[in-house]
Amino acid sequence: MSEELARGLEGVTVAETRLSRIDGENGDLIVAGFPIEELAPNATFEEVLFLLHEDRLPTRDELDAFRTDLASRRAVADEAIATVRRAADEGQDAMDALRMGIAAATLGRDHEEDPREDALDAVAKMPTLAAAYKRATEGKEPVEPRTDLRHAANYLHLLTGEDPNEAAARGLETYLNTVVDHGLNASTFTARTIVSTESDVVSAVTGAVGALKGPLHGGAPGPVLDMIEEAHERGEPEKVLREELDEGKRLMGFGHRVYKTRDPRAAVLENAAKSFYEGEGSAFFESARETERVGVELLAERKPDLNLSTNVEFYTAVLLRGVGVPRNLFSPTFAVGRSAGWTAHCLEQLEDNRLIRPRSRYVGGEDRTWTAVEDRE
Ligand code: ACO
Repeated sequence: MSEELARGLEGVTVAETRLSRIDGENGDLIVAGFPIEELAPNATFEEVLFLLHEDRLPTRDELDAFRTDLASRRAVADEAIATVRRAADEGQDAMDALRMGIAAATLGRDHEEDPREDALDAVAKMPTLAAAYKRATEGKEPVEPRTDLRHAANYLHLLTGEDPNEAAARGLETYLNTVVDHGLNASTFTARTIVSTESDVVSAVTGAVGALKGPLHGGAPGPVLDMIEEAHERGEPEKVLREELDEGKRLMGFGHRVYKTRDPRAAVLENAAKSFYEGEGSAFFESARETERVGVELLAERKPDLNLSTNVEFYTAVLLRGVGVPRNLFSPTFAVGRSAGWTAHCLEQLEDNRLIRPRSRYVGGEDRTWTAVEDRE
């Protein structure tokens, strides 16, 4: 057995998947056979979820039934809402609230533990929990989910309690579709690892939420928005970004473990965001573009060999701001979309399961002698 060390599992292939393919050199992303540029702006979220779970597009009748089924699972147990609200009252992070809330998705379950049923339950309940957190931070009661709305439109309704604006719902749906799946990223790997022990899908999604929270993964879009807003308000993106880098910070929304080009999802999200910044908002959009241009330039100056470019998080911040998702829900909204991929990976892992169990190389001591606590200095 090779003892070769692959820190961060970089370059190691540990699973076969039909869910997505990333070409990091050319900047291409294929999701279940479709280029992301074609799938994200055209499909409904329900179609993409069905595609990932079933490996084919649904017929009209199947889609109608699937939508109805998913919508019927949106309500969460009162205890889960109470937990999310308490987390909000205590000033805890939205991702912590989501992690606690989704763990309770098995409460009141009206079926035996079943991977497919649990997968649909988890995906359906994410917006309800995220929106309940947001409303609690504003001292408001949660809104009842609506079964007549599609997933994205219902999410907007849950945030505001109002009829969702059609364009905003489409923008949000395009966002969710864009981030549904992306190879074996850290949170997806976490989910697959958890079900590989024959644990359950809700546990896998709960663990995946925890993995997504970190700023090196799904926690970046909030800080991206701060950076763009500062660049916009001060009117000097280059100075703002130079200051960040001079303080030894990373530029959020730039760089990627796999892409050596601009992340293809950035273009999809940039296109979707544009229409929300017409007229008065156009100056902010232009500041975002200028921030991107300057960021790429400064990173090329400092790391000329790395081709550090914009990742998905940069225009996530711009689009979500445009459709009216508040900053503290950016990462939970990423989780709402990515839960489609997490659950599909769980189902795929279970089709031909093998316990995920890599090795570590021991670098500790070998020759210590035990000393009883009372004899230790
Ligand atoms: N800003 C400044 N420097 C950077 C950036 C950045 N955004 N990204 C990479 N670098 C530098 C690192 O400091 C490092 O320099 P060093 O060798 O002098 O220490 C070098 O480039 C290589 O970086 P690594 O951390 O080894 O690259 P890795 O493949 O692990 O990083 C990552 C990928 C984590 C996304 C990184 O680019 C980063 O931290 N970006 C900023 C955070 C961010 O945008 N996160 C969202 C990622 S997208 C997603 O997960 C959905």
